[in-house]
Order: sequence, then C-alpha cells, then structure tokens
Amino acid sequence: MANLAVFASGNGSNFEAIVHALQNTPHRVVCLISDQPKAFALDRAKRLGIPVHVFRFRTPAERETSEKGILEVLKNYKTDLIALAGFMRVLSPLFVDAYPKRIVNIHPSLLPKYPGVHGIRDSFLSRDPELGITIHYVDYGVDSGPIILQRSFKRAGTESLEEIEERIHRLEHEEYPRVLLQLLDSLEQDFHKESFKGKGVHT
Ligand code: GRF
Repeated sequence: MANLAVFASGNGSNFEAIVHALQNTPHRVVCLISDQPKAFALDRAKRLGIPVHVFRFRTPAERETSEKGILEVLKNYKTDLIALAGFMRVLSPLFVDAYPKRIVNIHPSLLPKYPGVHGIRDSFLSRDPELGITIHYVDYGVDSGPIILQRSFKRAGTESLEEIEERIHRLEHEEYPRVLLQLLDSLEQDFHKESFKGKGVHT
C-alpha cells in the first residue's frame, strides 16, 4: 500500500477521478491539500470522505509557514507521493526537495509548449495540428520538470474552445489516475524490496 496526497486549488475534477481510480486498489488518497477555502474540490472531498487541509499562500511569509504546516500534515499521513491537480501555486525548492521525484503534476498542453495558467487557451489559439496533455515530475520551475507521459490528439480545427477543453479534461481523467497508479505500484514494490533487504541483513 502507498499513500497519495492530492493538491488542488479549483474545480477538482482530476482529484475526483484519482479518488475513484484508487478505490479497490491497495493504495489510498490520504488527504486533499488546498490553498483556496472555497474551492469546489473541497466539496468533492467532503462528499468522497477525504480529509481536507487548507493552507493559504497569499504572501511569501504565508507560503513559508504553510509549506512547513503541509510537510507536517503529509508526514502524519505517511505520504509517499504527491499529485498536483490544478494546484495554482509554485512550491519552494525547500518543499520540492522534501519529496524528491515524489511530486507529480498534470498540465493541459504538450510541454514545453504553453506552460503557465493558460495552457488550454494558448494551445487552442495556436495553429498546432496536435494538442494534448503532459504528466511530469515537479522541479523548481513552472511546468518544467522531467516528463513522465504525454498524450496527444489531432484537432480538426473546427472545434470550439469548450470542445477542446472537454477533450483535454477527458484525456486527463483517463491518464492521470493511470500514471499515478503505476507510480504507487512501483513505490510499493520498492518498499517490499527494502523490507526484504532489511530482513536479509538479520538472517
Ligand atoms: C487541469 O486542466 C490540469 O491540467 C491543470 O489544471 C486543471 C485542473 O482541473 N493543471 P480540475 O481542477 O482537476 O478540474
């Protein structure tokens, strides 16, 4: 079993897809972390029975205190992996270093194209024949970490922004839970290897 914490600032549709995908697996979503007390993701969490922790990030000082608080919360849940799912804050190097290669993000464009908050709009406005999504590890930058997976689709060029948005979200809801599940499975295998090694020392 491995423990996943999800961070979200807004709607939370990816968060909900992840929670559903982890049901009937050995893994669990231990909590939702948000910087927005009114985010719809919080309503979803309540409905799904997932504990919520809100930490504000409005000033650099607040971010520093909040990150310390979040690390404490994550430790209490024995968190193994963090999934950012529409979390609109940049985490400090200190925080990122606390979970090396254990923080994952999803972005609604084919990175390195169109990083930042308007990934879908910028992709839509481009003349790119293919659009898509990127799942990547988080580093110190914005949407810049090592890529784990990209999925794309061809556009006809006649779709509305809403249609493109829907297509991208559908892809996100399929791929993000699948990738997270794989990462959680491989973390669990590492734990088994570690405990096997541990036993080996004593026999
Ligand atoms: C998604 O498009 C994700 O790629 C981006 O933020 C959006 C979050 O959507 N990082 P939701 O809150 O999961 O519905």
